[in-house]
Amino acid sequence: MSSSNNALLSVQGLGTAFPTHDGLVRAVADVSFSVLPGRTTALVGESGSGKSVTSLTLMGLLPKDCGAQITGRADFVCRDSRRVDLLSLPARQARALRGNEIAMIFQEPMTSLNPVLTIGEQIAESLRLHKGLDRAAALAASKRMLELVEIPAAGQRLHEYPHQLSGGMRQRVMIALAMACEPRLLIADEPTTALDVTIQAQILALMGRLQRETGMSMLFITHNLGVVAHHADEVVVMYAGRVVESAPVRPLFAAPQHPYTQGLLNCLPAKARKPGEPRPKRLFAIRGQVASPLAPPPGCAFEPRCDSAEARCRESMPALLAQASSERQTRCIHVEEWD
Ligand SMILES: Nc1ncnc2c1ncn2[C@@H]1O[C@H](COP(=O)(O)OP(=O)(O)OP(=O)(O)O)[C@@H](O)[C@H]1O
Ligand SMILES: [Mg+2]
Repeated sequence: MSSSNNALLSVQGLGTAFPTHDGLVRAVADVSFSVLPGRTTALVGESGSGKSVTSLTLMGLLPKDCGAQITGRADFVCRDSRRVDLLSLPARQARALRGNEIAMIFQEPMTSLNPVLTIGEQIAESLRLHKGLDRAAALAASKRMLELVEIPAAGQRLHEYPHQLSGGMRQRVMIALAMACEPRLLIADEPTTALDVTIQAQILALMGRLQRETGMSMLFITHNLGVVAHHADEVVVMYAGRVVESAPVRPLFAAPQHPYTQGLLNCLPAKARKPGEPRPKRLFAIRGQVASPLAPPPGCAFEPRCDSAEARCRESMPALLAQASSERQTRCIHVEEWD
């Protein structure tokens, strides 16, 4: 899937490293994946695996003072069919793309909503900036956006401040803000993790509906494989800053290939698995911890935690190997024996 030419976003060999007092932290290395038009690619992996750094790098939103060293390319097809590399785009053009063709929503809406502006003012400002609407037209469009994300009494909510809304309502406002400019790509970084399960399901259903209606693509970041099973088309599993497996959702759940993905699936309660799939005999957590990005082992990063590990796993980092079907890729030496 990384080789798709018809992809809306094609990320190739993305690397993000942070110089720190203790040395270079390679938070993301050699990450490649695509997002197809109208489809959802999920980035999955446990805490610290580099999911947020990947999305922030793509959005050009890493803190300015962190001195990040960025490598690779990320080709994005604009509305006018131009193909641009997000990683080498001049700052002005990058700003013009952000919030317009590419929008992002975060786990905690309060970090992205302005506490001193009303909901209506914030959505209207985005519409004025990106769509050139005048004040009255922007406010009217803001109300329609709140209705689109199913906020009751939209006309009244428009004049409220973020703190007056519940967490679920704030996340809806975030989505309205992101959707206001009809982005071609929505990057959602754990958009529902902070919400309780019922609200989470409602927000995910809403995002699915908006995607079907608008045909936008999504890069969906989560550590919840249950969410992935129901909402993603393609899955990219990250471990210690690298892609360890990528595949369309069905084959990945039916037959995970990387021992880390297998472990993640075994951690899933049976109800969150796809219907018809066998229940695991027992639930278990993957033993051990992610290695420090400062001193990664020379071989496979998962080797210290892997039940299938052998001596040659410690020698060098396995390559991400494409399978015969070429839709699947796995970074494990054992995959040659299984293919
Ligand atoms: N500015 C920075 N300087 C140094 N290291 C950083 C910086 N930003 C992120 N990192 C490191 O990069 C690694 C990846 O972090 P990232 O936030 O992408 O993880 P994540 O997969 O999003 O995790 P989570 O599920 O907890 O959100 C972590 O080891 C983190 O400490
Ligand atoms: Mg994160």
